[in-house]
Amino acid sequence: MLATQLLEIEKCTQSKIDAVDFNNIPFGRTFSDHMLVAEYFDGQWQTAKIMPYGPIPLSPATSALHYGQAIFEGMKAHRTTDGRIAMFRPDKNIARFNKSAVRMSMPEVPEDIFMEGLLELIKLDIAWIPNKEGCSLYMRPLMFANEPCIGVKTSDRYMFIIMVGPVGPYYSEPVSVLVSEEYARAVKGGVGYAKTAGNYGRTLYPVELARKQGYKDILWLDGREQKYVEEIGTMNVFFVLDGKLITPSIDGTFLEGVTRESVIRIAQDLGYEVEQRKIDIAEIVAAHNNGLLEEMFGTGTAATVTHINRFGFRGEDYHLDLDKAVISKRIKEELEGIKSNAVPDRHGWLKFVE
Ligand code: COI
Repeated sequence: MLATQLLEIEKCTQSKIDAVDFNNIPFGRTFSDHMLVAEYFDGQWQTAKIMPYGPIPLSPATSALHYGQAIFEGMKAHRTTDGRIAMFRPDKNIARFNKSAVRMSMPEVPEDIFMEGLLELIKLDIAWIPNKEGCSLYMRPLMFANEPCIGVKTSDRYMFIIMVGPVGPYYSEPVSVLVSEEYARAVKGGVGYAKTAGNYGRTLYPVELARKQGYKDILWLDGREQKYVEEIGTMNVFFVLDGKLITPSIDGTFLEGVTRESVIRIAQDLGYEVEQRKIDIAEIVAAHNNGLLEEMFGTGTAATVTHINRFGFRGEDYHLDLDKAVISKRIKEELEGIKSNAVPDRHGWLKFVE
């Protein structure tokens, strides 16, 4: 199977890489020399093209801008300790992307176009993969409805893009979160599990309010009872209670994180007990008050494993002692070890780019 059967490639004439300071790479602002673009119309995907990264012409009537038919993914490629390049569980992201597509009434992207596109882009822009520890090449697949039509309907046209760029850590330090009882991120039957643009846009105003109160992000509760913990918007959430890991069980209202699932597997492999269940925020507060809440952390592709050092709830602040965060530190170390191929990849999570 030749990539050229699926893809056309137009290389850039002049790389921009010399202008990039690889010692200072803020998340999400630097993109490599190339991007993949594939269009869907007449009921099928057209030949995908890799072309120089740059602006795309859009009609003001572009459907996604009005009604939000837009989905995306977050994936990473990185250098391993033995000098190879690997992606971490790309099949899971592709599957989740297509699950989001179905929920948003969009066409699925064929797995071969998706995977070949990723591989070809990485090979072409290999020099953009940072060498520095904790840094990687972030890959952002995106699909949006681009029919120039403002009728409220499923679009006839879509654009699938993959852009990639070097990134450093999303959070460079532990994060504080405010438990929101006023705003909701998702409700049962909605689109909470889909990685769709509106799930993020709707959180920006409440997150700004939380920032004014000194918190970095929001810990979202369920949208119906405002009682059960769901996720942190950029991350899934875990607690360590009396030596046991607990995390909300999947119920369709929050993102089914690839890192979340990997962390659960790693924790079990390391012999820790993991419970996936409904978690009442009152239980977390009580556990903190009784000295049983030992750790709290978030997981995500961008965030990897990020410690939570404080949460605010009903005007009270609850602090977490990071010196006690031994389990999450051990899990993070194991996850990073697997990614860098320093620890055996026993579940076959790495896809090498040869
Ligand atoms: C990711 O972890 O890759 C995400 O997409 C979360 C956020 C950066 C939007």
